[in-house]
Amino acid sequence: MSSQPAEDGHDGYDIFSPGFRADPYATWSAMRAAGCPVAHSGQWGGSWMPVRYDTVRETARDGERFSSRAVEVAGPLESAGGLFLPPLTSDPPQHKLHRDVLMPYFLPKRIAAFEPFIRDRARELAAGLAARGGGDAVTDFAQGLTIAVLTTMLGVPPGEQFTDWMIRMIRIGPKDQAVRAQVVGEILAYLGGLLDEREAEPRDDLITYLAGAAIDGVPLSRKHQIGSAFLILIAGADTTWSAIGSSLWHLATHDEDRRRLVADPGLIDTAAEEFLRVYAPVSVGRIAREEADLDGRRVGAGERVLLAFAAANRDPDVFEDPDEIRIDRKRNRHLTFGSGGHRCLGSNLARLELRVTLEEWLRVMPEFRLAGPGGIEWSGGQTRGPERVEFLVSR
Ligand code: HEM
Repeated sequence: MSSQPAEDGHDGYDIFSPGFRADPYATWSAMRAAGCPVAHSGQWGGSWMPVRYDTVRETARDGERFSSRAVEVAGPLESAGGLFLPPLTSDPPQHKLHRDVLMPYFLPKRIAAFEPFIRDRARELAAGLAARGGGDAVTDFAQGLTIAVLTTMLGVPPGEQFTDWMIRMIRIGPKDQAVRAQVVGEILAYLGGLLDEREAEPRDDLITYLAGAAIDGVPLSRKHQIGSAFLILIAGADTTWSAIGSSLWHLATHDEDRRRLVADPGLIDTAAEEFLRVYAPVSVGRIAREEADLDGRRVGAGERVLLAFAAANRDPDVFEDPDEIRIDRKRNRHLTFGSGGHRCLGSNLARLELRVTLEEWLRVMPEFRLAGPGGIEWSGGQTRGPERVEFLVSR
């Protein structure tokens, strides 16, 4: 069938346009106000975008009707489908087996053991910025912290190339397939080499673990080992640094919230959840396996659905005054980490990094503000967050 929709006022959205990057919430509010719960766009390979909480949640959980084989939200479907990142791109019934392989590295006890490392690193980075009187909270803090955690987990030396790889892969790649192919090749080669090294000389790290892991007694293929290592890198990097960057931007621009948190650090947990809700960085794609009805619109088999969790998190049927940021919000069942079988495996780690950042940053720099009106620029696409947050310490 032809599933191309009758043109609607809200169709044709462009997740990379300057307007959508700066304020996607306006698009989602306008869709709700106009009674348009699902929009269609032919841009960037084409997709359907639901905004209702229930629809986003149900679609994310429905592995039978919606495949995860290509979760990238932009770019040609063929190339997006080519990357094997188990368990993210795995469907039932293999998905659970692929997820269980990584589970030992994400058990609460194992993640909690990272806290002293994260705290030391956060304090050290914040102290350096305080001494300089300011800087960029993204490039001088959030990126360094996030990459340090990931490289420690994987057991690789930290280096600038990780940040560069993530930016080329996730920010530039979807719009430029040549850049994407180049960077994917570089990362695959690097991880393959690393797996060879760890096989020869095992250590206590995730790469060594993957090199020896098995499912039902059958060793993982090299492709599987590389894919899972690749996934940890891309799933844990700019997702987390975007959440940290958005939260620090919020505190640099909302004095009342910042002073409340400094006076009452006991609010940091609910504040972190609220920042995750309102600035949810991640959107993922699904491919309809068969024709499906999404809130009255017909999605054709093989077409992509874009799950913008940040849109679901602003649904007024679920959240009271959803556009209001309440750092003491009690009921907060946001979808920032997804829902169902694919729900984020690293959510405990991401939460730990965000909470510790808020605690250490506010201890070292209780007073800070945006350097100027141009001090912020939002990225678009798969992961939305500030590309930089230039700030000054207030004395
Ligand atoms: C604030 C930071 C983060 C956000 C917002 C986030 C968000 C998400 C979302 C929405 C999914 C579900 C994808 C889907 O339904 O297809 C997901 C999956 C995943 N995330 Fe995260 N993530 C974050 C941090 C991390 C970290 C730090 C790690 C690991 C170091 C990680 C590892 C994973 C993995 C392995 C999956 C795949 C799970 C599966 O498919 O079963 N994430 N993440």
